[in-house]
Amino acid sequence: MTAALSVVQSVEAGAGAAAVNSAADAPGHIEAHDITVDFESEGRRQRVLQAINLSVPKGSFVSIIGPSGCGKSSLLKVLAGLIAPTEGRVLVDGIAPQQAAKRRRIGLVFQDPILLPWKNAVENAAFLLMTADDTIGKTEAFARAAAMLRLVGLEGAERKNPSQLSGGMRQRVAIARALALDPQVLLMDEPFGALDAITREEMSHCLLDIWQRTGKTIVLVTHSIEEAVFLSREVHVMGGAPAQIIETVPVLLAQPRGAQSLTDPAFKSAQQRLRTLLIESHQRRPA
Ligand SMILES: Nc1ncnc2c1ncn2[C@@H]1O[C@H](COP(=O)(O)OP(=O)(O)OP(=O)(O)O)[C@@H](O)[C@H]1O
Ligand SMILES: [Mg+2]
Repeated sequence: MTAALSVVQSVEAGAGAAAVNSAADAPGHIEAHDITVDFESEGRRQRVLQAINLSVPKGSFVSIIGPSGCGKSSLLKVLAGLIAPTEGRVLVDGIAPQQAAKRRRIGLVFQDPILLPWKNAVENAAFLLMTADDTIGKTEAFARAAAMLRLVGLEGAERKNPSQLSGGMRQRVAIARALALDPQVLLMDEPFGALDAITREEMSHCLLDIWQRTGKTIVLVTHSIEEAVFLSREVHVMGGAPAQIIETVPVLLAQPRGAQSLTDPAFKSAQQRLRTLLIESHQRRPA
């Protein structure tokens, strides 16, 4: 079986996988135990994260929300293996995140899509895969990248360069690039932060669709309460200095989610709880 075909099949099998993985007792896919992070800056040591514990079940979608500068990106980088915690440890599918990343089990998406301007959409979407796996041929990598571009709704835009794409389309290419690795875990840091409100909503629906079809484990850092509630099974609220997870808010919305979720009373109650917690954590910020 070609790799491209295997990705498409795993995408198609994803709806079933999501259902299986939704069991509350599913094995932890991401486990963070007692994570503490200190940074050195201008000769001073600053504790940014303190005793963070996080368990994200396989196939779940969780969000992380908290005041600007509290340490959300730092936590995501620890989960990705890009920052070694000062104390504590992370396991992604039972192994260290650096090992998981090497085995292409982690895909990363940041606020800035960072595409190569001289490469078109399909070349950009295939780029990480070709860099990560030198055994994969160009034809196969491009086929896989094109399948992922179709999944994110970019069919027909494969030959366009980044300068010919809108901000939302560029971010879709970045998501396709991460998905082309076929990672089990997708870590996203404010991926829609630079987009207008309507494009952001469209991207939310696109991400929901990807998650429902692939059953991947997704951790999303966002400043949008609405986005967090719409997409997630639970929302971790960070606050304090050094930051901790001050509360985990479950989102008791029926699956599958869609436009009808927005009028569900559970949508409003989760939003209100998150708003209260965010106001509290803003008030507790050091001056
Ligand atoms: N490499 C680093 N060296 C020193 N300090 C750092 C480093 N990275 C982040 N920090 C500091 O750690 C704190 C948390 O930063 P981080 O980027 O994780 O916050 P954030 O919650 O993602 O903020 P935002 O919502 O604005 O993106 C900040 O005070 C920041 O200045
Ligand atoms: Mg950040």
